[in-house]
Amino acid sequence: MHLKKITKAVFPVAGMGSRFLPATKATAKEMLPVVDKPLIQYAVEEAVAAGITDMVFITGRNKRAIEDHFDKAYELEATLEAQGKNELLRIVQEVVPSHINCIYIRQAEPLGLGHAVLCAQPVIQDEPFAVILADDLIEGEVPVMKQMVQVFAKHQCSVLGVQEVPRSHTKQYGIVSTSNIEPKIDKIHGIVEKPKPEDAPSTLAVVGRYILTPRIFKHLHEVKPGTGGEIQLTDGIAALMQYESLLAYSFDGTRYDCGSKLGYLKAQVAFGLKHKELREEFAAYLKTVN
Ligand code: G1P
Repeated sequence: MHLKKITKAVFPVAGMGSRFLPATKATAKEMLPVVDKPLIQYAVEEAVAAGITDMVFITGRNKRAIEDHFDKAYELEATLEAQGKNELLRIVQEVVPSHINCIYIRQAEPLGLGHAVLCAQPVIQDEPFAVILADDLIEGEVPVMKQMVQVFAKHQCSVLGVQEVPRSHTKQYGIVSTSNIEPKIDKIHGIVEKPKPEDAPSTLAVVGRYILTPRIFKHLHEVKPGTGGEIQLTDGIAALMQYESLLAYSFDGTRYDCGSKLGYLKAQVAFGLKHKELREEFAAYLKTVN
């Protein structure tokens, strides 16, 4: 069998970010920083750590900040160089390593996550690929997408990153029903988008990490608008499951739901407490607050 490698990641970044208005009025929510790095940069760094080289951003309005962030900043670099601010210059230049390609595709209308992923088809074509939702910020000793690429390398089928959630939260997630096949890995038998707690088949939730086989595109073309009137990735995955095996992977790592204000604040605290310049002073400060 010819073993396939994951070389491309799709980053759907066209969302309105309405939960963070007015901060997201003129910029993408994926540009919100956790301490000193925007969410999208954490996501790209996770993909790079997984050996992925082509970053495909599905953008919408407010796309410019993301494109600029991953572009060369001539004026800024020249200024930092002239001022002898070499450490800052290095930080700016290393935002995207030189072997990485950034590709931007515009999603003209906000028709849903499934539609956003479908927009990547001309670039992905016939290869398995990763999808990373930047507002799920996941800290792992081994970056989560790297863990998932290892699962894919062994099983050569679609893999969804999953986590147990309280039953009262099922209506925020795609929820899977599964049977266990090995530690941390389950076979998926069903998947449903945002079920009410009383209807949820389990409390195992899909978080924003996917490795998908290219057959998903065929199904995304066919699915009808689902929850919220949107083309849901979950519905495409449910259709794919009729033809191929799918695995749920319970990753090692801590997830911060930076799509919610509370999760975002928790991420700031966690990353602030680990930041090499800030950790001691910040920890001392936090002890004084209650
Ligand atoms: C999306 C997906 C959902 C998934 C979630 C993970 O929902 O539709 O299946 O569980 O991401 O964060 P959203 O958070 O965009 O509403």
